[in-house]
Amino acid sequence: MRVETQVCVVGAGPAGLMLSHLLALHGIHSIVLEARSRQYCEERVRAGVLEQTSVAMLEQSGLAARLHREGMRHEGLDLGLNGRLHRIALQELTGKGVTVYGQQEVVKDLIARRLADGGDLRFECGEVSLHQLDSAHPLVRVAAAGGEYEIHCDYVAGCDGFHGVARSSIPQGVLQCYERTYPFAWLGILAEAAPSRQELVYMQHDRGFALYSMRSPSVTRLYLQCAPDEDLTEWSDDRIWSELHARLDSHDGWKPNEGHILQKSVTGMRSFVVEPLQYGRLFLAGDAAHIVPPTGAKGMNLAFADVYYLAEAMQEYYRRDSSERLQQYSATCLRRIWRAQRFSWWMTSLLHRFASDSPFDRKRQMAELDYVMNSRAAATALAENYVGLPLEA
Ligand code: FAD
Ligand code: DHB
Repeated sequence: MRVETQVCVVGAGPAGLMLSHLLALHGIHSIVLEARSRQYCEERVRAGVLEQTSVAMLEQSGLAARLHREGMRHEGLDLGLNGRLHRIALQELTGKGVTVYGQQEVVKDLIARRLADGGDLRFECGEVSLHQLDSAHPLVRVAAAGGEYEIHCDYVAGCDGFHGVARSSIPQGVLQCYERTYPFAWLGILAEAAPSRQELVYMQHDRGFALYSMRSPSVTRLYLQCAPDEDLTEWSDDRIWSELHARLDSHDGWKPNEGHILQKSVTGMRSFVVEPLQYGRLFLAGDAAHIVPPTGAKGMNLAFADVYYLAEAMQEYYRRDSSERLQQYSATCLRRIWRAQRFSWWMTSLLHRFASDSPFDRKRQMAELDYVMNSRAAATALAENYVGLPLEA
């Protein structure tokens, strides 16, 4: 069977869904191919912090109704060192804030809207393979249960995450990979417990980093630095709470509320970028092209920035028959990606315990945190990056 579309989008995560939505607003037809079920995509617990730019993108594309009702706008965050907290006043320092709204809520809103608009989203689509990417007529083959079919398109968008098929369809030698892995991971939990504080706490602690976050007025999200190969079966609920208290409870008497643990996971940490983000008529976006360690809360936001540029460039192609912006797509995105990489690496280095650190390294790290907590200039540099750099025109 032969199917035609203008853009074939592989992956229904934040990048693929947002791209398909923005393209539809520009009058460009797309088909989204997703390996997993709709339910799986909607329930996958991941990122939680939206930069103001991402919120603006959701607002301007008519997707912010529930976000405005349920999202929690934060005008500051706390940095801590061994239980001593210091607020970074994001709004006061930058004029901007962030919004805490779970990635799976963004994904639910995007799926609902694409389907309401008659969008073509194909979940559990079977095995996807990409062909003729360096020709004017790329084609995507889908080996579905009912038999194979082919999608003929003008462009393919690889929005299928780090383990997807798009990046690995590019011939060897085309891409340059830049990578760093970290000697730790995050053990994350979602707990049925009302947040006990209105803003996030990033705690540097002798026992390791801990992060206090939230999802709603009744759900708290918490993370602990752990070993990359940490065995979750060794972490009873009691052990998790006791370690969270040991690292997070503050000298002024604050502590996270406990509650039933709804979900536990371990996430490895890496920095990864491929260059360029294009091969022929295939464009990579989001985690398919880059991964940041989560400390800077940049993953989903970078994915949105990529597809914003890609949708704008595709609009120029279809409206004005100019592929100039498509040719610039990779360079435009990479500038923002590397800035976010630098910030995420810096936040990670500032806040985690590195087993290999010498006593000198540890003292230097604590001095750096002291500087960020006590210098308006240093706090502003953190805040400016955390709330998100502006999108370039
Ligand atoms: P994804 O969300 O990965 O979406 C890709 C989609 O493609 C998936 O739905 C996948 O099923 C689909 N797919 C894959 N292969 C194929 C294929 N062959 N065919 C069809 N479909 C395919 N960021 C933060 O800022 N804070 C966090 O706390 C945080 N936690 C994270 C925890 C985990 C376990 C992971 C993996 C990431 C986390 N991130 C976090 C990063 C953030 O969630 C990602 O940056 C974001 O999901 C990127 O969106 P994306 O659409 O590019 O990729
Ligand atoms: C969350 C995740 C992050 O990586 C982060 O830096 C802040 C918050 C969260 O899941 O809420």
